[in-house]
Amino acid sequence: MTKPLRVTQSVYWVGVNDFSTKLFEGLWDIPEGVSYNSYLIIGSEKIALIDSVGEKFLEEHLNKIEQVINPSRIEYLIINHMEPDHTSAIPKILSVMPKVKVVLTPAAFQILKAFYHIETLETIIVKGDDTVIDLGGKTLRFIQTPFLHWPETMSTYLIEEEVLFSCDLCGSFKHLPEGAIVDTNIENIEQYIYGGVLKGYFAGVFSKYRDHVLKAMEKFKALGLKIKVLAPSHGPVYTIHAKEVMDLWTSWSKPDYTKKVVVAVGSMYGFTFKFVESIVKGIKEAGGEAVILNLVEDSPVKMLEMVIDAPALIIGMPTYEYDLFPPVNYFVNLLGLKKLTDKFVGVFGTFAWAGGGLKRLIDLLNTLGFKYLGGVEVKGSPLLEDLEKAKALAKLIAETAFKEHKL
Ligand code: FEO
Repeated sequence: MTKPLRVTQSVYWVGVNDFSTKLFEGLWDIPEGVSYNSYLIIGSEKIALIDSVGEKFLEEHLNKIEQVINPSRIEYLIINHMEPDHTSAIPKILSVMPKVKVVLTPAAFQILKAFYHIETLETIIVKGDDTVIDLGGKTLRFIQTPFLHWPETMSTYLIEEEVLFSCDLCGSFKHLPEGAIVDTNIENIEQYIYGGVLKGYFAGVFSKYRDHVLKAMEKFKALGLKIKVLAPSHGPVYTIHAKEVMDLWTSWSKPDYTKKVVVAVGSMYGFTFKFVESIVKGIKEAGGEAVILNLVEDSPVKMLEMVIDAPALIIGMPTYEYDLFPPVNYFVNLLGLKKLTDKFVGVFGTFAWAGGGLKRLIDLLNTLGFKYLGGVEVKGSPLLEDLEKAKALAKLIAETAFKEHKL
């Protein structure tokens, strides 16, 4: 998109679509791209810019700003979050805003200095939740919402128009469609909300900080903020869907478990996969839904997205050189990193010439705090009796998890 977009009476989107990055944060695959949303707020007297973009999009970003106003008129640059996808253009963009004051939290200021070594800078350091800036009939209020998903994050609220600029909170993968950012103008908005890109973004970027998401949501309520427009820094702006999207993020953050068991399998030649059919039967007999993850082929985003609202997990792998099969090692440690370990878990596995991997897997699961319930391991490929054992184990795990969570 080459043009800025009007969001509300006083708000313009001057962000960009990114179609070229393959792995967001170097970790999360984004085959449909991502948008970096930056917003201009035009008051009768002053103008503010909320967040910026990555340096490689500087020209496009600046061009969009220039289509709305002369950037030299911008008096405030509000930094809700310091991650470089929103800030690495800042050192250069400051040169076209000679009178700008940078509005940010103390922690953000420290990171700004460390990242970009900017020597002369006028700042307004935001502490507490009562700092406001009057742009002339449009008032911005700053609210401390740390760890969304870095420690320095804050949110900005446009009082008169009830717009919450939540930065990464409620953000989404996937580029914006041509000429549209507001949900009511996006034809396939359900695809954005329910097609995996919203939950995928939450899973990859936010799943470790679920408690902080809940705290922020509670704080918005406690402060009595009416949120007519939810304007995150990635993906669509929500109006009629604002509450729905905030409710989804709240639900994933609790999490609200469903009767789902994830069967996560890493296999070299298919012997380990031979267990899967029996395991799925066991889960179904317990009244659950089985979701199968291929740990060799599926993306980390999908892995996390599938696991978040599952109360139980059954992991299969071959022993690899006396140890864990590497894709399984990555998966389990990723769940540990993202604090997704409050789950009942079982294991199954195969080996050719030496076992040992499954024991290492069980040790790792116990160390990370999973609730381990049992395992089945065979040399070579499983016989009927092994498959029956795996089915019984799967049923036990599903029943235990569903009972524990009253599902
Ligand atoms: Fe979109 Fe955490 O940066």
